[in-house]
Amino acid sequence: MKIEGITNKILIADDDRTNRLFLKKGVSGLPYEFVFAESGTEALEKILEEDFDLLLLDILMPGLTGFEVIKKFKEHRPDRKIPFIFLTGQSESDSISEGFSLGAVDYITKPFTLIEIRLRIKTHHDLYKSQFELNSYAKNMESLAKERAEQLIHSDRLATLGSMSAGIMHEINNPTTFISGNVQLMQDKFFRLIKEILEESPRANETKIKFMLDELPEMFDGINHGVSRIKKITDGLKAFSRTSHHSEKSIPIDLRDSVKNALRFTKSSIPHKILVNYQEPDEPYIAMASTQEIEQVLINLIVNSSHAIEEIDSPNIFITLSKDLDKTICKISDNGPGIPDEILKKIWNPFFTTKPAGKGTGLGLAICREIIQSHSGSLVYTGALEKGAEFTMTLKGE
Ligand SMILES: Nc1ncnc2c1ncn2[C@@H]1O[C@H](COP(=O)(O)OP(=O)(O)OP(=O)(O)O)[C@@H](O)[C@H]1O
Ligand SMILES: [Mg+2]
Repeated sequence: MKIEGITNKILIADDDRTNRLFLKKGVSGLPYEFVFAESGTEALEKILEEDFDLLLLDILMPGLTGFEVIKKFKEHRPDRKIPFIFLTGQSESDSISEGFSLGAVDYITKPFTLIEIRLRIKTHHDLYKSQFELNSYAKNMESLAKERAEQLIHSDRLATLGSMSAGIMHEINNPTTFISGNVQLMQDKFFRLIKEILEESPRANETKIKFMLDELPEMFDGINHGVSRIKKITDGLKAFSRTSHHSEKSIPIDLRDSVKNALRFTKSSIPHKILVNYQEPDEPYIAMASTQEIEQVLINLIVNSSHAIEEIDSPNIFITLSKDLDKTICKISDNGPGIPDEILKKIWNPFFTTKPAGKGTGLGLAICREIIQSHSGSLVYTGALEKGAEFTMTLKGE
């Protein structure tokens, strides 16, 4: 059976013509393709060019010795390990230990018998093949485990979502009642009024029409408000239950771009009087992450800050990027009131909000934390009362 990655090719290097002929005869009939090299240099060229499953190397050869071939090959291809057997004279105990320290799987002392050569080649090729199969099996298991872990995270999210359903219904119910109430009112009142207009005198109609014109816009506003609130909630829930694939989270992104985009997206919603302090660094700040999700987190944090400071004098938002060993860090802070301890305990809970009814859904920080945890990073509150709020996001760097 053909196994992917197994070439069934074996290289034999010996500078002695008689030895080569003898070896050629010895291995004939074995189910492998044999390639012969006459010197160490030729052997090195060949193993750098083609892939072999096993090498049989004489030690003493002109140009490069068998061991030098292995050393040079390791320099060029540190990622690739080819098993090798070396051929040595009877009492060369030094070369035997050098061979094993270089990673040889076996050695054959000269003079050798053909049966010995055949058996050793077959044994080591079989060993290599089983090892290869084991490795690819382990790799498969690893990716299977990763996939399962992702599924688990996803079902965990769905479970959280399930436990949130009472809250969700409550949140959606309020605006829905609001909308249906207004629609009912319009149906009852306005249809009746229109009928009356048609039946009554033009003088009376004027006031009724005026009344309708006064009331209608407010009612439509109410409906629009309710609808956009439901949309905000369902969008938030969609983001919460979405699993982006593991590979999407491990792309190197420059956090300078993420901050730039987040500021661009929030520009129109931040009042002009708020000063955003951000000095873009000259060098990149790389994090392994999903661009879209990190921007979503930054936008949430910036909008939260802007809500917290819109009423104060000289409101400021500060954004900084920094590095710590292999971590890339982004801090977003403001000079607002900060978050008191009793509120701090709840800010990460879905639907927790201190904003007036209709303004916040309370999903912002819950989604942010979910996103950052799925990146194996951290998002913590590092602010202090009186000084203002500060959130620190830490992600894996390059
Ligand atoms: N920078 C901040 N300063 C003061 N309080 C904050 C700040 N950021 C968050 N909070 C508090 O945390 C609460 C939860 O924030 P979260 O972002 O989860 O929801 P929200 O902003 O109320 O609503 P939305 O779903 O629209 O984001 C806020 O209502 C507020 O009380
Ligand atoms: Mg928010």
